[in-house]
Amino acid sequence: MIKCGTINRVEVADFDCKTATDSDLSVLKSLVYENKIAVLKNQHLTPGEYVEFSKRLGTPEAYYQPMYHHPEEKNIFVSSNVSKDGKRMGVPHTGKFWHADYAFMKKPFAFTLIYPQVIPAQSRGTYFIDMGEVYESLPEDIKTKLEGTTCKHSVRKYFKIRPTDVYRPISEILREIERETPEVTHASVFTHPVTDEKILYISEGFSQQMFDRDGNPMADEFLEHLLILSGQKDNAFSSPFVRMHQFEKGDLLFWDNRSLVHCALHATVAEPTESFRITLHDQYDFCQGVDELNQSVADPVLRNVGT
Ligand SMILES: [Fe+2]
Repeated sequence: MIKCGTINRVEVADFDCKTATDSDLSVLKSLVYENKIAVLKNQHLTPGEYVEFSKRLGTPEAYYQPMYHHPEEKNIFVSSNVSKDGKRMGVPHTGKFWHADYAFMKKPFAFTLIYPQVIPAQSRGTYFIDMGEVYESLPEDIKTKLEGTTCKHSVRKYFKIRPTDVYRPISEILREIERETPEVTHASVFTHPVTDEKILYISEGFSQQMFDRDGNPMADEFLEHLLILSGQKDNAFSSPFVRMHQFEKGDLLFWDNRSLVHCALHATVAEPTESFRITLHDQYDFCQGVDELNQSVADPVLRNVGT
């Protein structure tokens, strides 16, 4: 095991995704729940094999916008600025802000898998913050103030305009965003269903507004203060909570999306980069009460908008 500050990163050197037994997978998932991140080294998987492996770890869910899908495997979300045979796949420069995957949806993911395909020469990594550790560090008066509070999350701040949106009225696009991804509400603090750890569930990218235990809006400054305390407002990434995990060709990163927020590292100069992401649900509710808070929120409409 390699300790990276407060987030442990378990490096697994001899894990064969194609022949792993159920017992191997169970041990691997336990490692991720406990240590937040595991890196499987020296992997050589086709897109189909990658998806098959992911299905043994949990239930994949394809991203709600088809423009991110791998052309043959819709469960693979492609972040890429690489052209092959004159064709582009996926979307460039994704996730360059602090977030937990799908926090703006009713049922966020338990796990995220990232399998880099084209590794940039300089900026090869992802920043992480363990929001369980952040919660633990909070002063008692803030923990008390957080009891029973909720937070609304939305995709609006970092929503990417799609090629099919060009020349469309912005009002129409905004209505569509509202229809497909209405704001959702999650507990500001929840207990991890496996580790029993308390997680402060807010992110700079998606968290919009906090509410007290009686449903009254809380001052914006409180959310801002929590984000500052967590290190998510530190543009220099120098907070003691921020850890950068570098990766190399053949690495397959597997992390606990309940506990960690992450931020992609992109180079300031253009470098070819491509990674394949698969996101998974496990057998547990994301957190207790996750359905009750969003009973009136419609599921996203899966359709190719703008065509
Ligand atoms: Fe992400």
